[in-house]
Amino acid sequence: MTATVRSFVTVDAPAVAMLEALCNPLPWHLEDLLPFADPEPSSFVRLGLVALDERGRVLGYLLASSVAGQAEILVLGVHPDARRQGLARALLRGLFARLQTLEADSIFLEVRAGNRDAITLYKSLGFADAGVRKGYYADSGEDAVLLRREL
Ligand SMILES: CC(C)(COP(=O)(O)OP(=O)(O)OC[C@H]1O[C@@H](n2cnc3c(N)ncnc32)[C@H](O)[C@@H]1OP(=O)(O)O)[C@@H](O)C(=O)NCCC(=O)NCCS
Repeated sequence: MTATVRSFVTVDAPAVAMLEALCNPLPWHLEDLLPFADPEPSSFVRLGLVALDERGRVLGYLLASSVAGQAEILVLGVHPDARRQGLARALLRGLFARLQTLEADSIFLEVRAGNRDAITLYKSLGFADAGVRKGYYADSGEDAVLLRREL
């Protein structure tokens, strides 16, 4: 698929909320997403990206923050019918490019220890293990793996 990655804007929020409900066992809701569509100028930078197909449908999304040179991926998801077509990789590359302009030094994230698909994705893009947070997820008590990448 030829995907386009662009900034997340307010009009994308309902589609992203629907995708988030499909992708995340503890989904962010519309009100959590909206501040990333129209971020206030702040030292805590909010970043949002979406991936669109040729017809302009939102099939993937990524939200991140950056503060004091350290960025964090907060949520990332791709519609189940659009997976393994490079959308998540395109979103992550788009994020790395934007973080360069913010002069962030490193990026980290937490991922469920059993989420092998996501861990494989992140490691294919240079993330490395940086620790484990025991019992991190409220729904299942699953551990979080902390991954980190220099930028
Ligand atoms: C994880 C997720 C975002 C990957 O999205 P995607 O668009 O399918 O990923 P891509 O097509 O860009 O895959 C890039 C690479 O990641 C790895 N990967 C992704 N999905 C994989 C899978 N199911 N099995 C093995 N490797 C996988 C592969 O290395 C892949 O490269 P390849 O296809 O050339 O082998 C998607 O599966 C998803 O939305 N999952 C549910 C939400 C989630 O887990 N989010 C991350 C939370 S931290």
